[in-house]
Amino acid sequence: MPIQERFLLSVDLESVPLMRSRALVIGSGVAGLAAAISAARHGPVILAAKGILDDSNSNQAQGGIAAALGEDDQPELHAADTMEAGGGLCDPEAVRILVEEGRLRCQELIDLGTPFDRENGEIAFTREGAHSRRRILHANGDATGRAIVATMLTRVSHLPGVLCLENHFAIDILHRDGVCYGALFLDTKYGRLLRVEAAFTVVASGGLGQVFRETTNPAVATGDGYAICYRAGAVLQDMEFVQFHPTTLYRAGAPRFLISEAVRGEGAYLLNQMGERFMTRYAEAAELSPRDVVSQSIFKELNRTGDTFVSLDLRHLDPALIAERFPNIMAFCADYGIDIVQDLVPVRPAVHYMMGGVKTDLDAATSVKNLYAAGEVASTGVHGANRLASNSLLEALVFGHRAGAAAAEDIHPFPDPLLTRRLPAKGTRLDVEDLSRSLKAITWRNIGVYRNGIHLLETVETIRAWSTFALSEQFQMRPGFEVQNMLTTAMLIAVSAMRRTESRGAHQRSDYPESNPEWLSHNQVQIDRLDGEMSISGRLAWKP
Ligand code: SIN
Repeated sequence: MPIQERFLLSVDLESVPLMRSRALVIGSGVAGLAAAISAARHGPVILAAKGILDDSNSNQAQGGIAAALGEDDQPELHAADTMEAGGGLCDPEAVRILVEEGRLRCQELIDLGTPFDRENGEIAFTREGAHSRRRILHANGDATGRAIVATMLTRVSHLPGVLCLENHFAIDILHRDGVCYGALFLDTKYGRLLRVEAAFTVVASGGLGQVFRETTNPAVATGDGYAICYRAGAVLQDMEFVQFHPTTLYRAGAPRFLISEAVRGEGAYLLNQMGERFMTRYAEAAELSPRDVVSQSIFKELNRTGDTFVSLDLRHLDPALIAERFPNIMAFCADYGIDIVQDLVPVRPAVHYMMGGVKTDLDAATSVKNLYAAGEVASTGVHGANRLASNSLLEALVFGHRAGAAAAEDIHPFPDPLLTRRLPAKGTRLDVEDLSRSLKAITWRNIGVYRNGIHLLETVETIRAWSTFALSEQFQMRPGFEVQNMLTTAMLIAVSAMRRTESRGAHQRSDYPESNPEWLSHNQVQIDRLDGEMSISGRLAWKP
């Protein structure tokens, strides 16, 4: 009889249907697709998506993908901009790999036929905040992510060794003694469990925007990858660095739809309700400052004026350029009665991207053997305290490729028994939707653009109280597992934000408004394998 301590569900794992593959990739955004394409050279791959294959943050990316491919550009310039935006916490070697290999990977995308926009036959580059050159490739105006994902999915569909499983939610990593052996899935279409054993597992499950009330992220972005890697014992770092995108549509009844940074890159202004171009008061580069600076300036301005939103003004731009460059934004806003050529577009910041995540080395390896992470869920060190616009698809491509390449190496026998986390059944009923709403409200209120110690402590204590009953529930359905992951992820953010007693990049504390050179270091969080406590950079932080 296998030992089943740390086992989540009251089922015998051995009775769960089993598939085996050399590589398992969890997530079908750009990082997951890059990993699958690269791993397929070394053997069979299973690519598991939580929903349908093209439901990902990557697919929604508007602005583009940054690469130093222009004649006036060089990787060193791209690296310098990335480091400048990152607030002193970027890893220079990871950044070097990003900008150098990024050019190769983008060239491969071009060779695969990605329909990047062109001018006179040459790739057309746009500009975004804090980039010193026009270096953003874009496709179909403002639908870059969709074009890249479609190209990569076509490539994957032509690889006989890749099996795609849609609607497969990763409940937990299968691991023992610090080694990963695959993952346990819920097939959400048929309500069945599935065990996938693999010599080599890549978590590329994207971000966590749904942990907050206001976000640009799709419904699938519930932070699952952070939580499953955390429970498997992986080290996570820099979880306090949550990026707010400065300009998301603020209209009653509309989702927080992203209004791409490229709109400001093409010359749009930010105005307050009095019609004043307020960014010039806060930062020399005005609307083209790094994203953290623009978001913080908007909040300062809203505090000053008492308003709830500011506006994007495109009225001075060429209407033909607007229509060509931003067809999707134009159509979306039109659905809510806004003509972006003639009207001011009401906007305010919302959660967009997590800079921190599962700590990896330069080959995307986590601290758990044979477990890799790539894309937004990973912390490779390239973004530091604030990500430069349009570096996210690039990072997903470069480090997803590196993660897949590692499949050439690790081969180990599949173990018996397989262990995952242990949670006793309690059988009580939980209102998952209510808990999710309550969590989003407190994270939005207390872990937003500006934070302070008292509110962070309140958040930690509240999530701890909710976790005492919610984490020991047994679920049959995806929303229950998701809300558990959201609680864990929110806790990881809150304890990291509480510990960093300074302001840096996207992490701003009103009680510690200055950067402190002693804090030029990374917060690292990990579960204690023996007693399940959360320890942060060596200090115990929380017991579930
Ligand atoms: C945008 O188009 O503004 C988003 C791109 C990014 O997040 O880098």
